[in-house]
Amino acid sequence: MGFEKKLPEERIERVNQDQRDFFSGLLHVFDPPLPEGVPERLEQIVASADIVIGDVVLDVGTGTGILVPLIQHYESDTIFACDLSEAMLVRLKEQYPYARTIQGDVRGLPLADESIDVVFINACYPNIADKDKSFANIGRMMKPDGRMVISHPMGKAFIDLLKARSPFPLDDFPAQPEAEILLRPYGFEIYKFVDQPELYILLAVKRGGS
Ligand SMILES: C[S@@+](CC[C@H](N)C(=O)[O-])C[C@H]1O[C@@H](n2cnc3c(N)ncnc32)[C@H](O)[C@@H]1O
Repeated sequence: MGFEKKLPEERIERVNQDQRDFFSGLLHVFDPPLPEGVPERLEQIVASADIVIGDVVLDVGTGTGILVPLIQHYESDTIFACDLSEAMLVRLKEQYPYARTIQGDVRGLPLADESIDVVFINACYPNIADKDKSFANIGRMMKPDGRMVISHPMGKAFIDLLKARSPFPLDDFPAQPEAEILLRPYGFEIYKFVDQPELYILLAVKRGGS
């Protein structure tokens, strides 16, 4: 079992186009100051991946790169920042020129097999339209024992507020038993699960290391 409920291809393309348009007009929402407590919770999210010096990190749905300086703090090697919206990535690059931006859907991201140590998906899991192909591709790109963090610094109930005004569908964050079933087919095991009113962190490790 995995992400069996799959949208038709033309619907996925439509949702991605709607998101591109929507987020390209919303850059200012991601500018500081962030809501109270969010900067500290973002630090907690990044800390949960246990980045070590030299790690190669991928930030999926990076937006304007809210996580990028927090990742850089750990002296990672390369930070790949992927997003559907070119406008988001232009803003990111102005602030964090050291990040390597890649425009496109994570499901088709062409990084090499087993080349990534850490993947972040912050405030983006609900937005990924083709979860089956996306998690298959993320699993392909990750090294064995690589860590993937799916998170939201406002907690999973925050999505209900967003759903009310979102022009495209948003999925809920999964509870732990559901997440185990969803991610297992892609080679992931859950190592840490935090579900607090204002913080969601799911840390999964790619099986296959010694
Ligand atoms: C709510 S924003 C979060 C941005 C950033 N992670 C943060 O925490 O501020 C979600 C972002 O995910 C991007 N996105 C949605 N689906 C995506 C996909 N399939 N592949 C890559 N990026 C995607 C959107 O373009 C948008 O910039």
